Amino acid sequence: MKLITPEELAQHASEESLWISIDGNVYDITRFAAMHPGGEQILHPYGGKDVTEVFYSLHRMEVLKKWSPRLKIGTLVGSKPVEQSVYEMSNKVLSKVPYAESPAFQSFPSPYYKPSHHSFRKALREWVETNVRPEAESFEHEGKHPSPEVHRAIGKVGLLAAMIGQGEHMKYLENGLPGLDNVEEFDLFHELIAHEEMSRLGVASYVDGIRAGYVIGAAPVWMFGPDWMKKEVGIPVIRGQKRIALAITEPFAGSDVAGVKTTAVLSKDGTHYIVNGTKKWITNGTFADYFVTAVRTGRKGAGGMSMLLIPRCDGVTTRDQDLLLQLCWNLLYYIRERQGASEIFNGQGERRLCTHHVQL
Ligand SMILES: Cc1cc2nc3c(=O)[nH]c(=O)nc-3n(C[C@H](O)[C@H](O)[C@H](O)COP(=O)(O)OP(=O)(O)OC[C@H]3O[C@@H](n4cnc5c(N)ncnc54)[C@H](O)[C@@H]3O)c2cc1C
Ligand code: HEM
Repeated sequence: MKLITPEELAQHASEESLWISIDGNVYDITRFAAMHPGGEQILHPYGGKDVTEVFYSLHRMEVLKKWSPRLKIGTLVGSKPVEQSVYEMSNKVLSKVPYAESPAFQSFPSPYYKPSHHSFRKALREWVETNVRPEAESFEHEGKHPSPEVHRAIGKVGLLAAMIGQGEHMKYLENGLPGLDNVEEFDLFHELIAHEEMSRLGVASYVDGIRAGYVIGAAPVWMFGPDWMKKEVGIPVIRGQKRIALAITEPFAGSDVAGVKTTAVLSKDGTHYIVNGTKKWITNGTFADYFVTAVRTGRKGAGGMSMLLIPRCDGVTTRDQDLLLQLCWNLLYYIRERQGASEIFNGQGERRLCTHHVQL
């Protein structure tokens, strides 16, 4: 790689030839300037200079992971240039850029965070970057649902369980939690960290595909479900073996939840429910195995409603819904649901009924 003196660097300070130095590496940004996300004009005053300090006040180191190999033309004489391997690792370690992390993780004192929070975040950061980011970024752009394999891996490492907070479900972790020697220490701040580390992927649709439907769907099972339901549904769901969604909204019932029109009628022999209705906007619904579903079992209004756990089976039809913000694939139209035999766990009391009986 070419060795460049500060004098030579200084000669490239015009629109025709624009060089800068960061971390002892010299970049030719003449052509890149026009596509710089921060704008072209801002770069011109910095041409021909070492911009390390100002660069890191505006960018995360990760930016150079992608751009350094493309723009680098040499190293600055008299410097100790930072290697590409450091940039490759940069998204797996905590950033030193001001405000790029929660202050407590940049040496500011905090009464809330203990050593176990630090080790949890550190281990999770590396795990998520290594195991989730590659699929997350490519699938987001290709508009694909998160794969069952990655979803399963996220469950296996305990991250799905961590995202619904403290509770009985934590007893069913397969391998403990990354960076946490004693799972008993798990608290709401570990939960917060789990969510922050997933959000950090910066791919909203993909991350919603993993967690949005799951968090609101699994929590009712663990909070209100009977023991058999926790065992047969709750455990596979926190382990990422099955996927779940919360199905409340309908075309005519959004803010006004009490307006739900989907009906559930007990069959004559009392063995199952016959459900009829349409749901809409159900995050993760197109690929969920279970639907925690708001239905009308009684009179008009809020008092006549119940929640059923409906497994995917014949009679449940789902499809993607095209929307802005690339969220299309994790929402659905849930059409003409005619599903018998669901499991009720709220409203009219707890009872177990046979499953998978469909009456059209
Ligand atoms: C990204 C996304 C994901 C979602 N995921 C799920 C999911 O997983 N499961 C699920 O069940 N649902 C889900 N929903 C649906 C969501 O819960 C509903 O969109 C929400 O309840 C609002 O209902 P609505 O869209 O029918 O709007 P409406 O209820 O028709 O409201 C339209 C407008 O009227 C206003 N408004 C309504 N009622 C009143 C009132 N009484 N007084 C004053 N103003 C009022 C609202 O503020 C809003 O501006 C999702 C929605 C989105 C956008
Ligand atoms: C190799 C050189 C550079 C590369 C590859 C680069 C790349 C980027 C990228 C990818 C972004 C989007 C935001 C992000 O992902 O963090 C960005 C934003 C920005 N860049 Fe640069 N940049 C470079 C040099 C500079 C320099 C020298 C300056 C000026 C001092 C600058 C100023 C900005 C500003 C102001 C933003 C917008 C920040 C914001 O919106 O918060 N960049 N740059």
